[in-house]
Amino acid sequence: MNHFLSVKEVYNLDVLVRNALLFKKTPFADKHLGKNRTIGLLFFNSSLRTRLSTQRAAQNLGMEVIVMNVGADSWQLEMEEGVIMNSDKAEHVKEAAAVVGQYCDIVGVRSFPSLTDREADYSEKVMNQFVKYTGRPIISLESATRHPLQSLTDLITISEYKTKARPKVVLTWAPHVKALPQCVPNSFSEWMNVADVDFVITHPEGYELAPEFSGNAKITHNQNEAFEGADFIYAKNWSSYTHYGQILNQDPAWMVTMDKMKLTDNAKFMHCLPVRRNVVVEDAVLDSDHSIVIPQAGNRVWAAQVVLKEMLMGLN
Ligand code: CP
Repeated sequence: MNHFLSVKEVYNLDVLVRNALLFKKTPFADKHLGKNRTIGLLFFNSSLRTRLSTQRAAQNLGMEVIVMNVGADSWQLEMEEGVIMNSDKAEHVKEAAAVVGQYCDIVGVRSFPSLTDREADYSEKVMNQFVKYTGRPIISLESATRHPLQSLTDLITISEYKTKARPKVVLTWAPHVKALPQCVPNSFSEWMNVADVDFVITHPEGYELAPEFSGNAKITHNQNEAFEGADFIYAKNWSSYTHYGQILNQDPAWMVTMDKMKLTDNAKFMHCLPVRRNVVVEDAVLDSDHSIVIPQAGNRVWAAQVVLKEMLMGLN
């Protein structure tokens, strides 16, 4: 594996999931692989899980880790080519990315979308500039349109907890107070489309994901109907793709409740976190045996570790 930006870089999904679960049993089995190797983790946005789990995964593989909050700890970066740099951005990504590449063997980047310019966001402008100029393998720590480490984690978690060969997995939109990116639902859909699951997406009208991400999922605006017989409920808010970045609906009736979980086949409740209690999902669900959000977050380490192992093995 060179870069890790989406499911498209994965050669064999089943093997990747199996190897991740092996790391869960023997975290230090490949500690020699990262000796004298350094990973740089660049965050344009806040993080708890991605930052700590990727750091932990790299340390389990024997790597050195450098973490930087771009813009807060370093210069503001200019991403556009050929501009007169007379604004507040003091350094161009051409130099910044290339310099980071001088210090690191692998580079992780987190950069959220603007939610104002769909074309720029969906062309993955920032991530692609790092791919172009760093000269090192890039691992996405969440980009403008995807969160592949989260989606791999989600698939690992579903593999661990499923009780049938082909479980029914439901991605449900849920209310939120802020306009959020489509990265997590896009990415989750992309991965579920290639996994062996019965995949359903439910959301209010106007929240259709880009067709290249929803793929062959069954889509319904009837949340109760979607929940019937489900084995996994994956809740997430996202802003509109069609009315780009807008909040079209805050109907609290879309919150995941215990009454709705009773429609399922004793489903497990999943969320990537952070989650707003009693907005996205009620306390009773999060605090019940349905919820696997904590072991799900724990699996972030094994997802990152199995990807970093493949990237390390691809280094010269
Ligand atoms: N799920 C997730 O990516 O969490 P953080 O934003 O805290 O990294």
